[in-house]
Amino acid sequence: MTLLIKNSKILRNGVFEDVNVLCEAEITKISRQEINAAFDEKLEGHRLALLPGVIDSHVHFRASGGADSAWDYKEDFASGGAAAAAGGVTTVCDMPNCVPPTTSAATLKAKLTAARHHCCVNYYAHFGVESKDGKNVNSAEAKKAIADFVALKVFMGSSTGPLLVQGEVLEKAFSLAAKLKKRILVHAEFEELVKHFREQAQKKGVTDHNAVRPPKCAVEATKKALELAEKHKARLHVCHLNCAEEIVLIEAARKKGVAVSCEATPHHLFLNSEEARKIGNNAKVNPPIRSEADRAAIFKAFATGVIEIAASDHAPHCDYEKAQDYWKAPAGFPGVETMLPLLLNAVSERKLSLERVVQATALLPAKINGFEGKGVIEKGKDADFVLVDLKMERKVRGEDLHGKSKWTPFEGKKLVGWPVATVASGEIVFERE
Ligand code: DOR
Ligand code: ZN
Ligand code: ZN
Repeated sequence: MTLLIKNSKILRNGVFEDVNVLCEAEITKISRQEINAAFDEKLEGHRLALLPGVIDSHVHFRASGGADSAWDYKEDFASGGAAAAAGGVTTVCDMPNCVPPTTSAATLKAKLTAARHHCCVNYYAHFGVESKDGKNVNSAEAKKAIADFVALKVFMGSSTGPLLVQGEVLEKAFSLAAKLKKRILVHAEFEELVKHFREQAQKKGVTDHNAVRPPKCAVEATKKALELAEKHKARLHVCHLNCAEEIVLIEAARKKGVAVSCEATPHHLFLNSEEARKIGNNAKVNPPIRSEADRAAIFKAFATGVIEIAASDHAPHCDYEKAQDYWKAPAGFPGVETMLPLLLNAVSERKLSLERVVQATALLPAKINGFEGKGVIEKGKDADFVLVDLKMERKVRGEDLHGKSKWTPFEGKKLVGWPVATVASGEIVFERE
């Protein structure tokens, strides 16, 4: 299949250039002139900006792929893929906390096979570290599966699903990552502290999520993860940074030579705890949305590249699950479809440069995840694009979302800058009506 993308503009050295692009699964030609080659399909670029497709390194598409996959009612590879495509996301890395979890070579294979058939965007998976008999990690399975996953994922605090790694097993996870030469991704909230603060909150009748799981839970966990990364010379990636103190810790560790990358989610960049409190359970997420001071610190670190990449932490649940009382409602919300529009809106408000958004959503995620063909628009690279209208103004509406969750904490927010078409591996996977 040959695709011709006519009359779009691409960023080269900070300047837009009008081009025509010809591609199959890879880019075969980029030209300022007309391309007179045969093609099967054509996408009219309308002189809009053509950006490298977004790589979202952190999604929960819920399905586990096998016959015993239990959470497809929340999301599956088809619905998650459709949501990604509509958000300009052409590559996702899926998290292992589905049911059953992705913690063995067999469950990983089942996931990848099912996703290949049902997900319309490029699909990769992370592998869950699991505590075995309370002492060891599932290292034999990780070794067996090594060629098929991107990174190891560790939940230092319990969140959605069964995965949790603590104590000496946590240390084993870091030494395993170093041995396998894989990055170790951490959900950094300390289980002991989460439990302690939850009990206190329950006694006092506090239901403010930021107070129930205060910053200390995240800061202490990030500190521990950095210590273990240093000790075992593991490459660490801290997911969803959420408070100012974590940034200080990471910068200090980098000065000591610790190899650590990190990500910011749209909700930690664009919402604060006051707003989250008003939204209620639909903004309940782990780690929680923090104070305005923390939000501003995360935003500044992201804008300046201290936090290298954006990742959505797309974590859909059903509306009836979220409608339960605070303690019962699961944490997480859909985000893969709204991440790029939120970032482009920040460009329209001159809070971020477009170059920085491209770097944080494509160039650096490709580099960090080791996706060699991705992240840039160049001849020979993968044909993953998003065509964006930087002036389009639309409101975020839960009912417009393409995933199974038809609600969002950003409901009603007016954003300027939206994807109008998405191409993954040379196939048009989304076109705005
Ligand atoms: O709020 C969250 N939801 N945090 C997580 O770490 C997991 C996620 C989910 O899978 O629902
Ligand atoms: Zn997490
Ligand atoms: Zn997550």
